[in-house]
Amino acid sequence: MKCSVAQVLAGTFPEDSEALVNGWVRTRRDAKGFSFLEINDGSCLANLQVVADDSLPGCAVLKAAQTGAAVGVRGRVLPSQGRGQAWELRAEELHLWGPADPESYPLQKKRHSDEFLRANAHLRARTNKFGALFRLRSRFAQAVHGFFQERGFFHVHTPIITGSDCEGAGELFRVTTLPPGPARPADDFFGQEAGLTVSGQLEAEMLALALGKVYTFGPAFRAENSNTPRHAAEFWMIEPEMAFADLGDDMDLAEDLLRHVVEFALGQCRDDLELFDRFVEPGLFKRLEKLLAGRYQRLPYGEAVEILKSSGQKFEYAPAWGLDLQTEHERHLCEVHFKKPVIVHDYPAAIKPFYMRLSDDGRTVAAMDLLVPKVGELVGGSQREERLDVLEGRMRQMGLNLESYWWYLDSRRFGSAPHSGFGLGFERLLMLLTGAPNIRDVIPFPRTPRNLEF
Ligand code: 4AD
Ligand code: MG
Repeated sequence: MKCSVAQVLAGTFPEDSEALVNGWVRTRRDAKGFSFLEINDGSCLANLQVVADDSLPGCAVLKAAQTGAAVGVRGRVLPSQGRGQAWELRAEELHLWGPADPESYPLQKKRHSDEFLRANAHLRARTNKFGALFRLRSRFAQAVHGFFQERGFFHVHTPIITGSDCEGAGELFRVTTLPPGPARPADDFFGQEAGLTVSGQLEAEMLALALGKVYTFGPAFRAENSNTPRHAAEFWMIEPEMAFADLGDDMDLAEDLLRHVVEFALGQCRDDLELFDRFVEPGLFKRLEKLLAGRYQRLPYGEAVEILKSSGQKFEYAPAWGLDLQTEHERHLCEVHFKKPVIVHDYPAAIKPFYMRLSDDGRTVAAMDLLVPKVGELVGGSQREERLDVLEGRMRQMGLNLESYWWYLDSRRFGSAPHSGFGLGFERLLMLLTGAPNIRDVIPFPRTPRNLEF
């Protein structure tokens, strides 16, 4: 029966039953009369030990089964005589799917640096660390879907090609079919300028104002020319949006979501996470457990700035009311001052996008950022401006073309209602949960400035 390494090692097979396992040779050791092959098929961290007798049919195949080669083994599942594993596969037939020359195969038995593996991203998922990472990526995505589905949110798909820059930061990648030259946007495919979405929020708002509670889980693109360990040009964002919900509800949802995923990680993913606790960030499990300890700190932006100013800390950028918080500020708040996740709310209106709800003081908006140790900003969200006149006023002030937002404004004309939502960067969540220090190492094929390999 065809089965995975994970299935064999789980011990669900009756002893001496036949199994067919495919995978890639990790290591190979030759003894007198037989060879040991360690095979990994990506289904789990552990390798399966295959014992192959020199007298097997197709002995030449055995010789070619070197590190990196893809092989298929039909054999018997037996209790292992060696240490370190309970089960092994006694080969009866060996098939070579694809050889690999061990001299030129880039992955050696030793540990490789993250930089080397980034340059070999086409093969790095075959290493223990990146195999574990991409399995975790899949499982955490499921945990996020589970969280929302259990709470009655509908998963919606918002456009990837768009005509509006939701965040207003001018980071839209252009999408065009025009050849380089003097052609006008009117001649282009859509008859206007188009770009890759920076956020599905505006469309998600329309759907929340019909379905009640929705969320997106999709790619976002930002031509942000900053080469930091936390920014990618292409990343995945989770954007819930709730009708009839205020900023307090929004903060509760963000906190609950993070707790849910951390609990899931600690409860269900220990096998793959163990590797990160040992080799990537010693003490990772302890740090994750602390994320579940108490409620997260919540405080207004104004108080956060005062704390930073009186901290006695030398910052590269001096904190002052009216300026955006820098990563160094965010990390000081949650790593040094409060020593736990912090939700900063009520930011100055002038540094936030047009759609956030203006507060009664006239100078702040109902915004919130969830800041976490190691990563800084994990979540950015807000209560949305539901009052048509106030919204139009802000859009004019910011120089937006109201006509092209007619549909967005319509939602404030017909059955407008308070609503709130946020965006959570999925890669930053992965960095938080695995301790990976660079966003390039939680994305299979990262896109960053000056890098479009693979
Ligand atoms: O704070 P941001 O820009 O918020 C929005 O886009 C809102 N429209 C979300 C909403 O309210 N529906 O981005 C949200 C999150 C950030 O907190 C961060 O985690 C992540 O997206 N993020 C990035 N992650 C990786 N690389 C980048 N360049 C990122 N930019 C934002
Ligand atoms: Mg933000």
